[in-house]
Amino acid sequence: MIPLHLAIIMDGNGRWATNRNLPRYEGHWKGASVAENVIEWSNDRGIKYLTLFSFSTENWKRPPEEIKMIFHILVKYLSDRINKVIEKNARLHFIGDIDALSPETRDVCLNSELLTSKCTGMVINLAVNYSGRYEILKAAKESKGENFESYLYTAGQPDPDLLIRTGGEKRISNFMLWQMAYTEFYFTDVLWPDFSENDLEMALDDFSKRQRRFGGIQ
Ligand code: IPE
Ligand code: IPE
Ligand code: MG
Repeated sequence: MIPLHLAIIMDGNGRWATNRNLPRYEGHWKGASVAENVIEWSNDRGIKYLTLFSFSTENWKRPPEEIKMIFHILVKYLSDRINKVIEKNARLHFIGDIDALSPETRDVCLNSELLTSKCTGMVINLAVNYSGRYEILKAAKESKGENFESYLYTAGQPDPDLLIRTGGEKRISNFMLWQMAYTEFYFTDVLWPDFSENDLEMALDDFSKRQRRFGGIQ
């Protein structure tokens, strides 16, 4: 069984760069190219929803130069590669508080959504300025208890079947707290910039052997 929805915490960019005596942003550049590959590999395998954790609301604690580079890389990738996404018939969707970004970054994000809005293939959720707790709070306030899930960023989407976290940490760091109630977790020490097609294959293979019960018996 292939996951219908795959979510990934792409962690380890900074350590990858530091291990090579490079500035941390070099890890983010390499990490962005790996994210592009993973989109392709996931699409090839028929995964219908792919969610990539790119920037958390807690990541604002980092030095301003690193933050600036992360958004520079995001804007550059979106501007240069959006045609490749359209060719694949994939739809980009941002989850997170996009309105709090710089106007330039926000416009590039919104424009990427618009340009891919007619695409009917894979859905790519990019989590940018994302907080799971904030998402729940916001949906609870707006929904007043009615149709709660349709007020989440992931409205209308199935919950993730599999979460992969690279970089060795075994935690979810405020990612998709509501949606992960029954998600299978896969942790690997591989740093995100080193994540290969074979690493993805291993995670998917591991997932295919899990027995999911959702509270029932079998
Ligand atoms: C993940 O890699 C990317 C972001 C959080 C933006 P890190 O930058 O957290 O890399 P490490 O964990 O410090 O190695
Ligand atoms: C999680 O990684 C966020 C992203 C990958 C964007 P962090 O590096 O921010 O997580 P912590 O601080 O180790 O929990
Ligand atoms: Mg990290």
